[in-house]
Amino acid sequence: MAGKHIVVANWKMHPKTLAEAKHLFLGVKRAVSRVRSAEAVVCPPAAFLSELRKLYAGKRISFGGQDVHAEKSGSYTGSLSAPMLKSVGAKYVIIGHSERRAAGETNNDVQKKVRAALDERLAVILCVGEQERDHEGEYLTFIKEELEVALLGVAADELRRVVIAYEPIWAIGRSAAAAMKPHDLHQIALFIRKVLSECFNREAALKATVLYGGSVEPENCGVLIKNGDVNGFLLGHASLDPTSFGDILACVYEKR
Ligand code: PGA
Repeated sequence: MAGKHIVVANWKMHPKTLAEAKHLFLGVKRAVSRVRSAEAVVCPPAAFLSELRKLYAGKRISFGGQDVHAEKSGSYTGSLSAPMLKSVGAKYVIIGHSERRAAGETNNDVQKKVRAALDERLAVILCVGEQERDHEGEYLTFIKEELEVALLGVAADELRRVVIAYEPIWAIGRSAAAAMKPHDLHQIALFIRKVLSECFNREAALKATVLYGGSVEPENCGVLIKNGDVNGFLLGHASLDPTSFGDILACVYEKR
């Protein structure tokens, strides 16, 4: 497996208060410290970012935003720019999450956001994934287009700062039993590297970091990491429970 291992915690719109976010973060911090060489990217609601950043002085946890605007500043009420995220300590930003796409974000919007983040030297966690699977394999065309458009204008050496997170929409927010099967994930991981190899080159594609997201829990993380050919996970609900989060880190970093 080429590419580095990584586990991303997407807290989405949780928890409700800064006090709860601090409490959760301390649990996450403990979980990371217990697993040798584990690295995690925590993406809390942006409102909590700078306060959580103050609680951590180490190197193994990085922080990320959950979305970004393509412009650096301007009259865009409610939006956050890449320089803003960077200035409060973010190193990463999730772009193209299916919940943002469901709110109207297009592949072209994603492309602009990717460019804006890379220009600000933020690393990108680029989410792609189909709504449903069909027998004709249309979902592959869909994923390919998501990748091709999002990465248009990205140079091969910039791919080091782009993590691809494959998140089939049908598998998000359910339980381990409903998630992707390792064999199917392996096929998609290969497919994503093939598309990257066509867009860039074979070497860059082999080195790329590819994650899986969608109902990853302690119950299924072992088989997915062992047989799915991915570098780690983008976690939603499991990242809100430090015990589950720690178990998943152990799967990725200790049991391979
Ligand atoms: P889930 O969410 O792990 O709760 O399925 C993943 C995501 O939406 O990023």
